[in-house]
Amino acid sequence: MALIAKKIKGTEDILPRDSYKWQIVEKALSTEAKSYGFSEIRTPVFEQTKLFQRGVGEGTDVVQKEMYTFETKGGESLTLRPEGTAGAARAFLEHGLFNDALPVKAYYFTTCYRYEKPQAGRQREFHQFGMEVYGADDPLADAELICAASSIFERLNLHNIRLEINSIGCPECRKKYHAALKEYFSQFTDTLCATCMSRLEKNPMRILDCKSPVCKEIAAGAPKITDFLCESCDDHFSKVQQYLTASGVNFTVNPSIVRGLDYYTNTVFEFISDSIGAQSTVCGGGRYNGLIEELGGNPTPALGFAIGLERLMMVIEKEAPFTDKDGTSSLYIATMGDNAKATALNLVNEVRKAGFIAHTDIVGRGLKAQMKYANKIGSLYSIVLGDNEIETGKANIKNMETGEQKEISLGDSFAVDFINIAMSEEMDYPISD
Ligand code: HAM
Repeated sequence: MALIAKKIKGTEDILPRDSYKWQIVEKALSTEAKSYGFSEIRTPVFEQTKLFQRGVGEGTDVVQKEMYTFETKGGESLTLRPEGTAGAARAFLEHGLFNDALPVKAYYFTTCYRYEKPQAGRQREFHQFGMEVYGADDPLADAELICAASSIFERLNLHNIRLEINSIGCPECRKKYHAALKEYFSQFTDTLCATCMSRLEKNPMRILDCKSPVCKEIAAGAPKITDFLCESCDDHFSKVQQYLTASGVNFTVNPSIVRGLDYYTNTVFEFISDSIGAQSTVCGGGRYNGLIEELGGNPTPALGFAIGLERLMMVIEKEAPFTDKDGTSSLYIATMGDNAKATALNLVNEVRKAGFIAHTDIVGRGLKAQMKYANKIGSLYSIVLGDNEIETGKANIKNMETGEQKEISLGDSFAVDFINIAMSEEMDYPISD
């Protein structure tokens, strides 16, 4: 095959045979988010570049190295969103959502774009599910949000994802911490990479998440932020831990978690899986009390997290794989002759209206080929319609798994009778949403 185009490096297609898995996961995520009182927000795939420069931070890897930025014909600089938080915060401000009853709680599914070296669990286009809360300062909000992420993993039967939390304090704690980091990293000016050298003066905390192995090794011995927290930040962090313990959520405090984006303050957290290789952080988030003000709004405490859906799918495939049948099982009505075709079309439509999946032949195959197709797509039930069935108004419905056949009337009660048969046999029959 001489293809004229191929998919871009670092992007993936989600094929019809696999998309049901994504739909199951997306449903679980949105159901969980809704149960916590979140509503969906959808924002554009591109934004003004300055949103991410200011929001995510000039000194971050994401802004310095990974953004897909381009100029419009009118000369404006736009960027494909590298993450969902900045766009959602922009929308919160632009639409005056701060006038709504606070806290405002929003969840989203987004594609994100980062120019990173692709590997398992790391793509250039990837998907995130995120939850953001605006206008909640209490440590209970942090604990509740972490509980939401944790209950998502439980809902998906994933019990081996561990939670690590930290506090990176407020700008005041960070001043002292930055000074300590500068002093420490200044000893290594001849070994740090060029990017980290440029970070040393302005934002030495970013050196802590540099991906270069040399910088990583140096960063391992750096002072820890938890030794620099002011009383109020320390108290906030203790309460978050108390609430998490009270809700039965297991966690460990990892003082090295600083997160790769500049907007975080106080609580930060990551959910990590040991079953998917080097890109093991499935979910990352935290509090970002300064972001709304940074983007031009009034000071508004906020917090959130995002789950990387490709990594989540990888964990599911390892720990709680999807069963083959999900979403593909159906009724197949095979036809012989033109009369049968018209009747079959009506019957499958009745079944579909009742919320079930139904197929009939739309390519003019012979009976044998139709049945082969029904088998291949995993239909649970089949019916063969020919002149005889049309004349008598009755047909046999076959359970493709057991081979058992039952008579079914082709009259008005067809869809109801079919559903009763499927239900009485306790088949795991899909009902569409
Ligand atoms: P992040 O840690 O940059 O945080 O990304 C969140 C998650 O997205 C990661 O834990 C990972 O699962 C996934 N992810 C990141 N980069 C890639 C990639 N190149 N390929 C595949 N998956 C990836 C944020 O984006 C923040 N906006 C999270 C947040 C929301 N904080 C507060 N609210």
